[in-house]
Amino acid sequence: MSTLVAKLDHRWISFPLRQPGLRVTAASKMQLSTVPPEPVIPSKKPFKVELVGGKRYSWCTCGHSRNQPFCDGSHKFKAQGLFPLRFIPDKDATVWLCGCKYTNNPPYCDGTHKQDFIVSAPLHDQTDC
Ligand code: FES
Repeated sequence: MSTLVAKLDHRWISFPLRQPGLRVTAASKMQLSTVPPEPVIPSKKPFKVELVGGKRYSWCTCGHSRNQPFCDGSHKFKAQGLFPLRFIPDKDATVWLCGCKYTNNPPYCDGTHKQDFIVSAPLHDQTDC
């Protein structure tokens, strides 16, 4: 049995693909999932940040960082498979960086945090370890 993994509406889903005549062994049922983890939501509002042109930034994509909206390396332990988004702004600018981690224009807020699936979702408790 093979698995098709696809991202649909901000969620990773998998579809088992059955092949007639192919036996599923116990070993293949026990394989670890390759589905990437979903980010947690550290904030339901964007962060206003003053960026320095030419400086490299790492925007947290997993939501576990205690240095929001930037990466502190927490993804290595709490969200393996997710990585920070590195970017270098062309010039100094004040911007709104996404805090919900579900923007469609990362790292910038695009208003996705106003959608129901974010509004009704639980906020990640940063004291959870
Ligand atoms: S805070 Fe994520 S889209 Fe606005």
